[in-house]
Amino acid sequence: MARISVLGISGGVSTPSRTTAVVSALVKAIAQRTPADTGLIEITEAAPSLFVTLSRYALGASGEAIIQRVEKADLLVVGTPVYRASYTGALKHLFDLVDHRALTGKTVLLAATGGSPYHGLVLEHQLRPLFGFFGAVTVPTGVYGAPDDFVDAKIVGAAIIERISRAATEAISLLNSSDANTAVATRVG
Ligand SMILES: Cc1cc2nc3c(=O)[nH]c(=O)nc-3n(C[C@H](O)[C@H](O)[C@H](O)COP(=O)(O)O)c2cc1C
Repeated sequence: MARISVLGISGGVSTPSRTTAVVSALVKAIAQRTPADTGLIEITEAAPSLFVTLSRYALGASGEAIIQRVEKADLLVVGTPVYRASYTGALKHLFDLVDHRALTGKTVLLAATGGSPYHGLVLEHQLRPLFGFFGAVTVPTGVYGAPDDFVDAKIVGAAIIERISRAATEAISLLNSSDANTAVATRVG
C-alpha cells in the first residue's frame, strides 16, 4: 500500500486542548492502519504566521509553508472546538487562505469538541459545508467530543474511542476508493 501523508489541523485555542487530543488520536489511528507520514498544525502555533495578513498574497514564508502543507497532504483531519455554534474564527482564517481549488477531491475527516453534547451537529451544519465548498470528500463518520468524553484533555469515553477507530478505518477506505476512481477516470479519459 502506498505511503500517504496525513495532516491534523486543530482549531483549538487552549492548552491543553481537547480538540487537539481528538485530532491527534485520529491521526494516530490512521497511521496504525496504513503507512503514513503524519503531521499536526495547531492554530495556536500557526496563528502568528497566519494572522499577519488577511490575504494569501501577503503571507510571509512561514505562513505560506503552513498553507502549502494543508494543500499538499493526502488526507486532512480537521478539528475545531465549537465556538458560538460554529468552528473557531481562527480555523476559518486558515482555510480562507487556502486556494479554493487545492482541496478538490481531497479526503477530509471532521472532528469537533464542545461544552455540551447538544452542538454535535456542528460537524454536519458547519464543517461539512465548508469542505463541500472546496469540493473535498468528507468521511461520513465524524467525531464529536463532549465534556463526559474527557478527563481534562485526555480522551476517556469508550464511545468516542470506538468512533475514532471507525472514522479512521473509513477515512482510509475512502482515500483508497478515491484513488481507485481517479485511476479509472484517468484510464478512461
Ligand atoms: C468563546 C467560546 C465559545 C464557545 N461556544 C460554545 C458553543 O457554542 N457550544 C458548545 O457546546 N461549547 C462552546 N464552547 C465550549 C468549547 O467548545 C469546549 O470547551 C471545547 O471542548 C474546548 O475545546 P479545546 O479544549 O480544544 O479548547 C465555547 C467556548 C468558548 C471559549
